[in-house]
Amino acid sequence: MNLLINSPSWNYREGELYCEEVPLKRIARKVGTPVYVYSRRHLVEAYREIISAWRGRSHLVCFSMKSNSNRAVIRTLVGEGSGIDVVSGGELFRALRAGAPPEKIVFAGVGKTEREIIEGIEAGILFFTVESLPELELISRTADRLGKTAPVALRVTPDVDPKTHRYITTGKAENKFGLDREEALDFYRRCLKLPGIAPVGIHMHIGSQILQTAPFREGVDRLVGLLKKLKGEGISLKYLDIGGGMGISYQGEEPPPAAAYASALRPLLKGLRLTVILEPGRFITGNAGSLLTSVLQVKKKAKKSFVIADGAMNDLIRPALYEAWHQIVPVSPGKGKPRRFDVVGPICETGDILGAGRSFPEPAPGDLLAVLSAGAYGAVMGSNYNSRPRPPEVLVDGDTFRIVRKRETYRDLVRGELD
Ligand code: LLP
Repeated sequence: MNLLINSPSWNYREGELYCEEVPLKRIARKVGTPVYVYSRRHLVEAYREIISAWRGRSHLVCFSMKSNSNRAVIRTLVGEGSGIDVVSGGELFRALRAGAPPEKIVFAGVGKTEREIIEGIEAGILFFTVESLPELELISRTADRLGKTAPVALRVTPDVDPKTHRYITTGKAENKFGLDREEALDFYRRCLKLPGIAPVGIHMHIGSQILQTAPFREGVDRLVGLLKKLKGEGISLKYLDIGGGMGISYQGEEPPPAAAYASALRPLLKGLRLTVILEPGRFITGNAGSLLTSVLQVKKKAKKSFVIADGAMNDLIRPALYEAWHQIVPVSPGKGKPRRFDVVGPICETGDILGAGRSFPEPAPGDLLAVLSAGAYGAVMGSNYNSRPRPPEVLVDGDTFRIVRKRETYRDLVRGELD
């Protein structure tokens, strides 16, 4: 079988799928299935690829933990020097607990509560990304009451089309995110008049799974225009946060390497004394992980054949939610003639599909399949639908692996329930 993803950490060796130096069947035997498996090496290499692309320019990578909030994943990246992009009080709690330095945490989100704002101020984060004037006023009142100053960056909607799925497009004028460019100058003028506020940056995030550098270039160009106007008014900002969104290969796409983004953007930033912030999520975690699942049954109906797996849409919802395509491969492919199957889970929904129309030799019950590229927006979007305990997570490091989140139990399902 050919793997379509770009990851030297996932490979077949003598007919067996490995993550780094560990055969996946060893993990399945020890931990059971379904299980999320992540390669530590992939995480570190993807992070380092970005860092080296921006060498020579002041920059900070704030890993977007919404893509994967496992503590061991955060710790690995924080250990490399990464900051964290958080979007809720819960993410802030997790980031701090995993040892992320608060001065490298940026806090985004289209509707922050007062409690979340207090938590961010008290932690001493790098800045809040602010998405509206009422939110700016709430942050100002809250900081003033605490006797603190809250650093802020305006999230601007640069109104560029990232040419990705409409559900993950965020930087167009008609999306709910950010403020229009025309409102930006007023926003910063307002910052200067409000107590408890220090304007330190400007932010954009145009969408996710973007496969071209041009939308980033257009967006940054627009933000740089604003930065120049602001300078004319005596407002100098320290941070230009260009968000996340760098795409990866799911299906053999050829995403630009990190260096291509850096070289497309560097010329626009010439002469500007500021720190560039990047918020990659998927680029780091996507192809680091896969969902390992076992075949329960093969079911042949007149019109179609199904592989019923023990992993389902509650474990990985991307195919059901966005019709996202994940490569599904047998862990031990064997030599049989490939046949076509829909790979589905046991949940009572027609949409419980992991992958439709996939070809591989007919598996037997108990055989293992790997749903690839599931390290981003996989485990984090999991649920307990159909009262299915969520799967464990395993981190592979060279020839060893460890459980970094336990499998949920039936007890976990009812924890917190009252009569
Ligand atoms: N920064 C901000 C402000 C964001 O909203 C996001 C993602 C990121 C950074 C990270 O984007 P990335 O580098 O991972 O593309 N659940 C969807 C993706 C939603 C992305 C939401 N925002 C999916 O499964 O494809």
